[in-house]
Amino acid sequence: MRALRALVTGASTGIGRTFARELAATGYVVTAVARSEDRLRTLVDELGSGHRYLVADLATADGQGLVADELARHPVDLLVNNAGTAHHGPFTETPAQDALTAIRLNCEAVVTLAHAFLAQARPGDALINVSSTLAYAPTPGLAVYSASKSFVTSLSEALWHEQRPYGVYVMGLCPGMTATDSHSLSHEDAPAALIQTPEALVAAALRALDRRARPTVVSGTANSVFTFAARVLPRRTALALLSRTP
Ligand SMILES: NC(=O)c1ccc[n+]([C@@H]2O[C@H](COP(=O)([O-])OP(=O)(O)OC[C@H]3O[C@@H](n4cnc5c(N)ncnc54)[C@H](OP(=O)(O)O)[C@@H]3O)[C@@H](O)[C@H]2O)c1
Repeated sequence: MRALRALVTGASTGIGRTFARELAATGYVVTAVARSEDRLRTLVDELGSGHRYLVADLATADGQGLVADELARHPVDLLVNNAGTAHHGPFTETPAQDALTAIRLNCEAVVTLAHAFLAQARPGDALINVSSTLAYAPTPGLAVYSASKSFVTSLSEALWHEQRPYGVYVMGLCPGMTATDSHSLSHEDAPAALIQTPEALVAAALRALDRRARPTVVSGTANSVFTFAARVLPRRTALALLSRTP
């Protein structure tokens, strides 16, 4: 029987790197995608023989095309659409170009790669789109980011339903605050109960992948309480509270 194959975007660091490590440890042959070749090479060396990397800027049409072609030529059993970016600040005080780059990476690349993957997916295959708890919480100061994650969660839920008859599982994964190299978080940023490690997040995602039940996976009790509150609070109250979130 051939080994299962996975492609993980944004695998050079953070949550994506943890996905790549954990999937390799459970027997997947991993293709790691990001822009930083040095980091990808270090990761693939660590994972061992058989694993590979692909350098691509997924905020560009060329980079998206490169990875979509790879998925068409070398189908995988699991795609983890993880690469994403956020820029902080009031909407009008941040360059429009930053917002558009975020949308290309967080939304356009997710659609392009999901489409390439699902076009050839077979029963048993799975797609994980990494969203955020902010998908449920329009966030002042992170307006484009939170809107982009609402897009990812909505897309994932609809695709979950569409793909069920074909035996293909689609998950929208909603991490809350996750301490990574580029997002070092401390007690000053948030109560410890709200901060997860990438290892805890990925373990929760892989447990949910085994069960293949829920369209959306919110990792951790505190994050579930947060998303519940964000959905049921009156919008003005939610927005006032969220404008104070770090
Ligand atoms: N950390 C959190 O608190 C948190 C919370 C909720 C949701 N999330 C989501 O989880 C995902 C991963 O977040 P993270 O915290 O692990 O982020 P991170 O540490 O900043 O890592 C982002 C990854 O994406 C890659 N990347 C960035 N721009 C790219 C581009 N244009 N083309 C290809 N790859 C690109 C980066 O590699 P290169 O720079 O080498 O390209 C890196 O591997 C994102 O979708 C994020 O929105 C994170």
